[in-house]
Amino acid sequence: MSWDNKFSKDAQSIRASEIRELLKILADPAILSFAGGIPDPAMFPMAEMKKIRESLEDQPDLDRQSMQYSQTEGYAPLRDWVASRVSTSEITFDRENVLVTNGAQQSLTLLSTVFMDPGTPIAVANPTYLGALQVFGTRRPKYVTIDTDEHGLITASLETAFKGGVKILYTIPDFQNPGGMTIPEDRRLDIIKLAHEYDVIILEDTAYRALYHDTPPPPSLLELEGKYLGGSSWQENGLVIQLGTASKTLMPALRVGWTIAPSAILDKLVLLKQANDLHTSTINQIITYELLDGNFDAHVTALRTVYKERKEAMLDALHQYLPNSVSFTIPTGGMFIWLNLPQGMDAKLLLARALDEEKIAFVPGAAFFANGGGENTLRLSFSTCSPDDIRDGMQRLSSLIQREYLEKVA
Ligand SMILES: Cc1ncc(COP(=O)(O)O)c(C=O)c1O
Repeated sequence: MSWDNKFSKDAQSIRASEIRELLKILADPAILSFAGGIPDPAMFPMAEMKKIRESLEDQPDLDRQSMQYSQTEGYAPLRDWVASRVSTSEITFDRENVLVTNGAQQSLTLLSTVFMDPGTPIAVANPTYLGALQVFGTRRPKYVTIDTDEHGLITASLETAFKGGVKILYTIPDFQNPGGMTIPEDRRLDIIKLAHEYDVIILEDTAYRALYHDTPPPPSLLELEGKYLGGSSWQENGLVIQLGTASKTLMPALRVGWTIAPSAILDKLVLLKQANDLHTSTINQIITYELLDGNFDAHVTALRTVYKERKEAMLDALHQYLPNSVSFTIPTGGMFIWLNLPQGMDAKLLLARALDEEKIAFVPGAAFFANGGGENTLRLSFSTCSPDDIRDGMQRLSSLIQREYLEKVA
């Protein structure tokens, strides 16, 4: 029996994630993978986690509470921690502005249900996070793609889209997934001004924000909007909704993320989440809070050092081995470098050869383009391989690109 015509329109519109499919192939230990945008498990705070578990056992009431149902909004100390982390001298947030979600991915799901109908025009960068396209796709919106350069979203392209009636902009301003670009402060200010001029909601995804390598990224869009509006009026007039996650700095399996929004929006999100899954795992929220409230800053500093070293190994090798016809981004944080191959090359075909001939993997870039294109692009992640493996892998990748270019394009 064919189920295709029995599925709802939403279910029919779900697209398979090439990355998830690829991750299945990567179970082969012989393959050196630069594909998954995942944190290095060797850096997980396992010892801290053990201490937290032991300390819970010593507090029977909290231990039992951690296994109980809890309120949809989230564990209050965790909400307070998030609110205080994003508060500045110009704008303060409190727990009423914070909803704990089952990862940032659930924030995207709830926000798309709250704001998107079939045909709703939404602006996304070319390229953008595939998981966002997957969840937005279930709402069947109309994608308006925004061009990017090495500094992320291009303001002129954004203004054209906003003038055309876009309702929502989804953006990852810091160390973007997949491009690695960071939007500079002046462009961020332009984005806020344009959003207010054209009344566009901004979904600011800060998944990688804490993972800078040398210096912190510019102020977030949320922070800049607070300044722009004069702080207190954000609750009534704020257009920026910020998403965060513990996945990239702590551990993805905690499945803890959050949404920061004016309370009128938050109330709607809470109702939807309640209908969806009642609440995020109580024990996971308590563990997350204890990890964040403990040695978090030292832990993130260690992550920055490790990822910076790996990024430098990757950039050095790419500079050394890649032909000049291939350009790439120079990220200042996060996990990704983005490659532009010469026109006419197809990264999907290249991946098939890379797996077969060189036993290396990356993600072909086309999947990150909402309306098609990007066949000659690819994403490399430097988060999980050692500098030596990175150098070796980049040399192999570069030589494969040379061979492919000579055989197919030149
Ligand atoms: C930009 C971006 N947003 C959100 C997510 C989802 O994160 P979480 O594990 O919190 O659901 C990811 C994960 O890769 C991501 O790259």
